[in-house]
Amino acid sequence: MEHLLIAGPILLTLYYIYRRWTGISVADIPGPKADSFLLGSQVESFQSQAGETDFKWQAQFGDVVRVKGVLGTDRLLVSDPKALHHIFTSGYNISKTGFRREITRLLTGPGLGWANGEDHLRQRKINSPAFGMAETRSYIPVYLAYANKLSAEWKERLGGDISTVVDAPHYFTRFFLDVIGEVAFDYQFGATNNSNDRVAEVLSSVVPKFTTPTTFDILVLGLLELVPVPLLKAFTQYAPTKGLRNSRQVERVATALAKRLVEEKAEALMAGKSKRDIMSLLVKANASANPRSNLSADELYAQMQTIMQAGHETTATTMSWTMLELTQHPEVQAKLREEIQATERAIYERGDTEFTAADFDSMTYTIAVMKETFRFHPVAFNTLREATRDELLPLSKPIVTLSGKTITELPIPKNQVLVISIVGYNRNTDVFGKDAHQFNPERWLDGTVKPAANVGMYGNLMTFGSGHRGCIGWRFAVYEYQAFLIELVKNFEFSMDPTIVSKVRREAGIVMFPTIEGEVKKGPQLPITIRAVEQL
Ligand code: HEM
Ligand SMILES: *[C@@H]1O[C@H](CO)[C@@H](O)[C@H](O)[C@H]1NC(C)=O
Ligand SMILES: *[C@@H]1O[C@H](CO)[C@@H](O)[C@H](O)[C@H]1NC(C)=O
Ligand SMILES: *[C@@H]1O[C@H](CO)[C@@H](O)[C@H](O)[C@H]1NC(C)=O
Ligand SMILES: *[C@@H]1O[C@H](CO)[C@@H](O)[C@H](O)[C@H]1NC(C)=O
Repeated sequence: MEHLLIAGPILLTLYYIYRRWTGISVADIPGPKADSFLLGSQVESFQSQAGETDFKWQAQFGDVVRVKGVLGTDRLLVSDPKALHHIFTSGYNISKTGFRREITRLLTGPGLGWANGEDHLRQRKINSPAFGMAETRSYIPVYLAYANKLSAEWKERLGGDISTVVDAPHYFTRFFLDVIGEVAFDYQFGATNNSNDRVAEVLSSVVPKFTTPTTFDILVLGLLELVPVPLLKAFTQYAPTKGLRNSRQVERVATALAKRLVEEKAEALMAGKSKRDIMSLLVKANASANPRSNLSADELYAQMQTIMQAGHETTATTMSWTMLELTQHPEVQAKLREEIQATERAIYERGDTEFTAADFDSMTYTIAVMKETFRFHPVAFNTLREATRDELLPLSKPIVTLSGKTITELPIPKNQVLVISIVGYNRNTDVFGKDAHQFNPERWLDGTVKPAANVGMYGNLMTFGSGHRGCIGWRFAVYEYQAFLIELVKNFEFSMDPTIVSKVRREAGIVMFPTIEGEVKKGPQLPITIRAVEQL
């Protein structure tokens, strides 16, 4: 026993010396000093508002920063464009971490967000056709119908009054839930009718539950990250904790509905009466795949929860952040409204009544506002990756290491955890201009944005991730967002009580959502003042 006690640390030290000797150690990369050996810098990192430590450390140390994890481990916080490009084009050699994937499996089952390697490739292939440009555009009338329903509800709230206050997240959560129900599953959750669908309630309760973790949570999460995945799996399968019991229950409820929907859609397909919702397209793609590349039943059921968890609060919350920016930039609002009204006039003049995909694509200022919101408020503010072999990360700018060496490429060891700072990259001044920390849609129109970095799914932004497992629903998000933005700005002017503006927090939950200082426990909240706009 004593021998072990002595041998352990010696072996560990030798191992570290070996790693350093072979050049594969990130210990020489500058970064913030840890608060403690046990917790590293994780408490500050997790308990600050979303992006706060990213911005601070980026300013202090640059675009690759060594941040201390629990028990003396090293994590690299990455926002360097070249390094990101390498990470997201390295296939599964740098993959989603086992821990993150396990969390995803708990929330969604064995779906697209969980799968890795060959399984992911296979699942992604079956999923892709349902998320194409033509499919996404065909849903525009549904987005517009719900946007319309929301503005009718707000007009009713206004009654005869000049202005009223609405809590933005409360509305967007319900409306975006019904949109995704209809478009993805051809299923009516009825959230905008205030009917209490059990499945809707259960499914939409998951994401908001993940809020800023306590110090104890941070320690447990950090330690679990170090546990081998098979052990983790056994733990999550059987452990009787409350959170896990809840997620197993969510899984049961969602799977039951998914099963029913898949059966209905398979029957419709057989009868030649297939619809165009995402689930129908999945069932169709699966049916025509060969047995080696089709989905198992569990994988197909898991897509329902995957789409719900990935595609609902993300878009809804992005819309709330847009409202905040519009209240703070009346000139942006006015210019936006002008473009919307001009487009609307053109639509009437040609004898149409509805915006089409071509209209959406022609609205350059609206698109600039959308991109700027995606850039400034990336609701998925970071993600994790792990090297599965030693890797060499190219760098956009040289790093001066602690020992004084200047390096232009950074060797990282196998198993190195990378924290991809989506929020940090989106504020990179080399890509987005000197005023990257300001909200300014003009940067998209005056040539400020340098599309050289070659990362991201849309607009050179990291908002939707990047590469072969970047957001599969980004087109969906873009058109849905635009439909709501157009409809709301057309009908309302937005402002906000200045005493509340200074109290808005970027809460670092599983997505970044707005809360009000002193009322964080109330959850997502953003009181916006609306006034009716005179119509054409
Ligand atoms: C503003 C809205 C959205 C944002 C900011 C967003 C962001 C992201 C990001 C950053 C990733 C990559 C995660 C990683 O690399 O670890 C991702 C993946 C994903 N997103 Fe989105 N998303 C949005 C909307 C949607 C919508 C509307 C859908 C579906 C209808 C969707 C479905 C997915 C799926 C299935 C994945 C996993 C893809 C894979 O692993 O292959 N997302 N999203
Ligand atoms: C992944 O690693 C393998 C072997 O280690 C290598 O042959 C392959 O080129 C790498 N893939 C990518 C996309 O870099
Ligand atoms: C919601 O209300 C609308 C109109 O009031 C109605 O047409 C629709 O069928 C309702 N949907 C559900 C799911 O109750
Ligand atoms: C394809 O579907 C069949 C029937 O559901 C299943 O037995 C098989 O395992 C599936 N293939 C894959 C690769 O999951
Ligand atoms: C997926 O497709 C295969 C045939 O390729 C089929 O046997 C299987 O039942 C399908 N899975 C589901 C869940 O419908």
